[in-house]
Parts: sequence; C-alpha cells; structure tokens
Amino acid sequence: MPPAPLSRSGKSRRTADSPISYYVQKALSTPGLISFAAGLVDEGSLPVDEVGAAVAAIVSDPAAGRAALQYGSTQGLPALREQVLNLVCDADGVRPSDVNLTAADVCITTGSQQLLYLLGEVLFDPGDIVITEAPSYFVFHSLLQSHGAKVLTVPMDADGMKADAMEALLERLRRSGELSRVKVIYTVDYFQNPTGLTLANDRRPRLVELARRFSTDHRIIILEDAAYRELRYSGADLPSVKRFDPTNEFVVYTSTFSKPCAPGLKTGYALMPPDLMEPVLHLKGSHDFGSANLAQHVASRLMASGVYARHAEELRTVYRKKRDVMLASLDAEFGDFPAARWTVPTGGFYVWLTLDGIDTGPSGPLVPAALETGVMYVPGEFGHVPDETGRVPNNECRLCFGVATEEQIAEGIRRLRKACAAIGEGKRAKAKVGV
Ligand SMILES: Cc1ncc(COP(=O)(O)O)c(C=O)c1O
Repeated sequence: MPPAPLSRSGKSRRTADSPISYYVQKALSTPGLISFAAGLVDEGSLPVDEVGAAVAAIVSDPAAGRAALQYGSTQGLPALREQVLNLVCDADGVRPSDVNLTAADVCITTGSQQLLYLLGEVLFDPGDIVITEAPSYFVFHSLLQSHGAKVLTVPMDADGMKADAMEALLERLRRSGELSRVKVIYTVDYFQNPTGLTLANDRRPRLVELARRFSTDHRIIILEDAAYRELRYSGADLPSVKRFDPTNEFVVYTSTFSKPCAPGLKTGYALMPPDLMEPVLHLKGSHDFGSANLAQHVASRLMASGVYARHAEELRTVYRKKRDVMLASLDAEFGDFPAARWTVPTGGFYVWLTLDGIDTGPSGPLVPAALETGVMYVPGEFGHVPDETGRVPNNECRLCFGVATEEQIAEGIRRLRKACAAIGEGKRAKAKVGV
C-alpha cells in the first residue's frame, strides 16, 4: 500500500526550490562549461591559510578552544558584535553613539540569509506587502513567497531604486487603503545582486524620510542588504542608509563575512532597532539558539589580527581585474551590437546585460544556444516579479564574474556573442506571460 500523503504546512506548500538550482547543478555537471550563473566567490583566493592559522591559534589555547567549541549565545559572540559594529560605523564615519547603537543592537546570524528569513518571520503575515527594487535578489523573492508576502516593485535607474517612484507607490497605497499592509522596503544598495547598481548618495536619506513619513499606522522597516559593500573597486564608499537613521528606528542593516572573506564561515550580522531585536532573538532561539560558535571565534580573530581587512583588500584587487576583463570583453564582443547594453558596476560580482529583441528567459532560445556554445548565465526574469498582466521582462541576463578565471571570462563572453549570433540576434522576443 502506498504511504498516506503528507499534510504539509501552507508555508511549505508555498516554498519552491530556487529557480537557479538547475543552473548551478548544470554548471557543476557539465565539463568545460563556463558559468556566469552561480554567485559563488573566487575559489583561488579563499583564505585557507589564514583560517587555518586562526583555528590553530584557537585550539592551541585550551581555554580559547573550549570557549569556541562550547555553545555560544543566541545573539552571538560579544567581541564579534562589537567588531562588526565598529566596522560599519567606521565605514560610515560615525561613532556608534552618534547613531544610537551599541553591541546590544547587533545580532550575529548564520549568513545574512538567515536574517532575511527571520525578519520575514517576525514581520510578515500572508498578504503583507514588501517593496523591492525591480529587479531584485531572487532568493529574497522566494523567501517572500514562503511567507505569503506580496511583492511590489520600484524601478531602478543608474542611481539605483528611484526614490520618486517609491514615493508615488507609497502614496498610491495610502490612497487605496493598503498602506497598513506595507511592512518592509528591501534594498540591496551596494553593487546590487543582480544588476550591479548602487543607490546614489542623495537617495539614501530620502528613503529613510519616506519610511518615516509613511509610517502612520505602524513602522515601515527598511531592510538594507549590504552584502557586497566591502567589495568596492572604484569610486568612494557611500554612507549606509542606516547612517541616516540616527534614532535606530527604521533601518535594519545586514551584511556578511561570505563575500569579503569566506562563505564557508556562513557568518553574517545585522544592526537593528531594539524592539525588533527581541522578537528576532526569540525566533532565532527556536531556530538554532546561536550561529556556529567556532566560526564566530574565527571571524573575530581574523578581524582582531588585521587579516580580515588585508584579505578584503586582496579580494578587491582580484575582483576588480575580473570585472575589468568582463567589461572589456563585452565592449569587444557586443560593442557593435546596438541591441546590447550593460551596467558598469563599481563593486560586487554582477554585470546586468540587456539584449533588446532576444528572449533570454528559461524557455527562450538563448539559454540552450549558450549551453551549446559552452556558457551559462542566469535569466534576468528570475529577478522580477510579474506585473498586473503577468508579464516580466525577458531580455536580460545576470552575468556573475566572481567564479570564472579572467581567461574564462573573456572566452565566456565570446561564446555568449556566438550564441546570440546562432539564434539570429535580430529576432523579436515574444512577451512572456508568468514565470
Ligand atoms: C544580496 C544578497 N544578500 C544576501 C546573501 C546571503 O549571503 P550569506 O547568507 O552567505 O551571508 C546573498 C548571497 O549571495 C546575496 O547576494
């Protein structure tokens, strides 16, 4: 007799596998394929020796070893909380007290992804509204789907999320009586995943002003995902959105050791208002009662010894070169192709390529043609949510330059150009309904 069917929760039924799992899997299982798909980090520059030395130092001292191998606290290692607080405040040119923050406002999480999830658990009931950039980090969209949240989007230009469009949307929601469902404004404001775009300086305080102004019924929280902030290759560092929240009321700032150090540490952190910290910690207590303590001790040592800062600097050199190779290759291969345009990121891992007239979507012709020539990208569709008519733009590609070597990047862009030629690049893309 077949087993009786499972009775899954609504949340589980709303949760699907990430659309890019297929692409990651395909890249791993196809020899010779150049992948611009997965947002993984450069393999060769992972800090193997540095982490090895930090672990050795910890376990060679019995007291330190025992402390690191024991359970930690739900909120995270106090020394590390102090260190990341100073890291963020130094980058913003303020003292923690200027922005009403102490280490009690910092939580260490199992990657920044855990914070995104936990915050959703704390804030969203099905039907609540989250406003994101269009396009946005697609794993965050999947998570919102699990929570049953509704995603509304604001377009971007070269300066990131358009503040005027945000204001117009909030105003529209106020008029339609839906403002009470708006819980969060989500922005990946440094070198965004997936577009590589950065929120301009003048839009940062504006975002806080809008959250404050429209928080009439309840507080609208800005979730600032600064995962790529430390990987900046040109231009000045911009103050965080959090910097413009001097009372620590409106902005949750989250970032991670994954990108500027090592994703295997799976250690992230968040700065947040005290009345959010409490429920987040209650939920985190149920999840794991604290992120891996050894990883936190390692991260703390790397920061204290200066290794972390030096390593992040080395990574900036590695990725700056990769970015430059990708941009130069795009110029060389797509410069004569009027339908192609792309972003010029000043940091992070991603270039966003738009190919007018070519269907880049998962069921369009470019994905198989690219695979045929030996290159893979993430269809831009995955970063969008369908509009009221069910449409999503289907002429964009996310190209990650993090993993491939410089030679592979140049070759991969040549292959992509070949794939465009193979499908007849002038063909009009059919508007696609739904995803
Ligand atoms: C924008 C963004 N936020 C958060 C994360 C999560 O990273 P982690 O959980 O490793 O800190 C990622 C990972 O790719 C990301 O791209």
